Parts: sequence; structure tokens; C-alpha cells
Amino acid sequence: MSTEDILEVERRYLNQGISEEAALGGVAFTHGRGSLLFDAEGKQYLDMSAGIFTQSTGHGHPHVTSSMHRQLDRLWNVHDFPTDARAALCEKLTQHFPEHLQTFAFFTTGAEAIEAAIRAVFGAVSPQRQRLAALRYGFHGKTMGARMLVHWDVGTTSFSGNSVLGYPGYCYRCPLGRTYPSCEMQCAQLVNKHISNKKNIAALFFEPIQGAAGVIVPPLEYWPMIQEECRKSGVLLVADEIVTGGGRTGEFLACSLFNVQPDIVAAAKGLSSGFPFSMLAGRKSLLNEGEFAQGGAASSTFGGNPLSMTAARATLEVLESEHLLDRVKRLGGRLREGLLALKADFPFLGDARGVGLLYALEFVTTPQGKEPDAAKARFFFRRCMELGVKTCVGGHIIRIGPPFTVSEQELEQALGVFGQVLKQMHDQKV
Ligand SMILES: Cc1ncc(COP(=O)(O)O)c(C=O)c1O
Repeated sequence: MSTEDILEVERRYLNQGISEEAALGGVAFTHGRGSLLFDAEGKQYLDMSAGIFTQSTGHGHPHVTSSMHRQLDRLWNVHDFPTDARAALCEKLTQHFPEHLQTFAFFTTGAEAIEAAIRAVFGAVSPQRQRLAALRYGFHGKTMGARMLVHWDVGTTSFSGNSVLGYPGYCYRCPLGRTYPSCEMQCAQLVNKHISNKKNIAALFFEPIQGAAGVIVPPLEYWPMIQEECRKSGVLLVADEIVTGGGRTGEFLACSLFNVQPDIVAAAKGLSSGFPFSMLAGRKSLLNEGEFAQGGAASSTFGGNPLSMTAARATLEVLESEHLLDRVKRLGGRLREGLLALKADFPFLGDARGVGLLYALEFVTTPQGKEPDAAKARFFFRRCMELGVKTCVGGHIIRIGPPFTVSEQELEQALGVFGQVLKQMHDQKV
């Protein structure tokens, strides 16, 4: 089928609530290898968003492929009966998660893991604690429980009625109109005020670095301040590391960057090289005692299936054998340098921020006004696609997160294309 044929069939039959980049892209992919994707006509694209931050080992990594082939020949689904594939993954995960987070539960999507974490939390705390806390601009998925944790939503109305929502450490657009560091972290202070005043909060759900909102990296003291208050007030910390977990920031968990020890971590995307997989890692007292350890509380039809277990184990093996965390740190340094240089050259690039191999560009009409400019972001995304580089667009924000296996040369090529497109935008006053 040609690209035109594929697009035509999908336009006719497929629900059109697809992501902004899929809708804008005008491309249909047929295969991928490493950091490269190919469309139906054989045109090549550098995948600078790694699927959707899923392809940490790139597309079709040989070790993941051969491990999956072997598992395909053996066993696909036995509901949640014990399997050698799941036991092997548990053992592998103990080498990567901190000592206090060594009880695991497996699911298939990020939202499903968040729902499970909500069940685990409410199963463990006293019945007086009926509320959850989260942060403004956070994103935790599209199921009802996950939507209780956000005050904006993707394509549907939010459902944050009973939740307590605090301010993130979003310095470029401080929600309190303050400037760091003279603000003395008023955002964290206000989160703490909520947490200490309201006596009925069970847990704070948080992305250590907010992904969908535009890779919002708070100042280093933000999370330790909030952690201290949560501990004092008996509020559990549930880290949503669905984007960041598995090494994208150069640490296995982004919480380590902030020296924060969550009680439960949800992880997914990059941990299984693109196969449907999500998980919770938590304290034994939360995940293996009480209600969440009752019969069936954590089981689901596809959760823990041997193929996903194998994909995750093989991904972790590649992470280890190719020393990918070191690589993320090293290449992340170059990505940072390149993007900051572009920001300095083009004032309509209001901010370029991130850590490791997870970055965002914020497009604005003027640097002073900081008014979000979604048209510029869309132009940038489309033009990069035409020039063979795929990124991720949402509103006025472009996110960049290549596979950890991306080569230096590929990274330079992508930075070159970004520079070329920004110059065109500057010259043509886009
Ligand atoms: C931080 C975060 N949490 C949860 C989710 C939901 O994951 P899923 O789309 O697999 O349900 C996402 C998805 O992008 C996410 O970025």
C-alpha cells in the first residue's frame, strides 16, 4: 500500500482522535531499524521522539528481537499464572530499583498502572484519607482515576473534583509570577501548606519531571522540600515515572536526580522497547500486604504476559550490556549544548529545557510576552518531518527524546535540521 492509500483507508475508518503529531505528520510508517523509521515509499526519518519515548533501545534492537522470537515460539498468555519469563523479569528488576521498592506488579498501559497505584494507596491508608493530591499541568493517563489527578485533559474534560492540585516548579512560566531563587520556592511551600492543612490526603501522585506539559524540570530543592512535608503529614509519595523511568534522564529513575524516595513508582514506556508493558514497584507494605494483595486485586487479562515480560527483560539487558545510562548522560550533554545554542540564536524559542535525552522547546510569539505560539511549533514539526526528522508536538511545545542508542552522527544531523528549520522560520517570519 502507498502512503496515500494507507492515509485514505485510515481517514475513512479510524477514529480521528489520534495524537497531534500523528494527525499533522501525513506519514505512514512501514518499518524501523535503530533510530530510523521508513515510510511506505522508503523515505527515511530520524526518530527523535523514539516512538513516544518508548524505543529506548531503538526500533528492532537485535537482542530484543531475538528474545521475543524465542518467547513467541514458547508461550504467549496463561493469565497470571507464574511463568519463568515473569520470575526472570522480577529478578532483573531487583538490580535496578532501590532496595525499598522490591515488590512488583505488572500491567499493560501507563494509565492502568496509575489506576492500580490508586487502588494500592486506598487499600493501605486509613478510611479518613479519601483524597489524592497531584500537580497542575501533570498528566497521568486517560482513565477516570488518572483523570482525577489532572486539571487539564487531552481531548476530554478533566475530572479532578476531589483532588488537591498544587503548583509545579515551572520557572519559565511561574504560576505564581515569581522568579527563582528569590521566590524561596513558594510553589513547593504552597504544595506543603495544602498537604499539612488538609488532613485527609492519602497520597501525592507526581511526575518528578512533568513530561506532557513540556518537560518541566523543577529546581533541585523542590522535591526534597515536598518529600519532607509528605513524610511529616503521613502522605504517601507515588512517582509517575512512566516517561522518565528506565533511564531517559540518565538515571534509572528521575527521582534519584532529586534524592527523593517514593513509596510507589509507576513505570512503562521506555522499559519494554515499545511492547505493551507497565509496572508498579513499591514498598512491600503497600503492594504485598493488605487489600492490594487480596486475590485478583492486581491481575488483568494481559498484565504480566510472557511476551511483555520478555520485552522488558531484554530491554534491561541491553541497557546493561551497552551501558546506556552513561550514554544517555553523555549524549544528553551534547543535546543540551546544541539546543541551548539554538535558543540563544532564535528569540521565538522561548525556552529549551530538559535533562538526559528528554528535552522540550517552547515556542513563543515574543521572548518578553512569552505568549505560547502553537502555529510556530506546528510549522517546526511539519518542516522537520519533511526534512526527515520526527519529533513530538503538543500545542506550542516540541518534545525531543531519541533512542538511547542514537549515534553521535544522528544527533548532530537532527540538531542541524532543527537549526535549518529555525533559520527558515526566522528568515520567513513564520
Ligand atoms: C507521565 C505519564 N503518565 C501516564 C501516562 C499514560 O500512559 P498510557 O498512555 O500508556 O496510558 C502517560 C502517557 O503519555 C504519561 O506521560
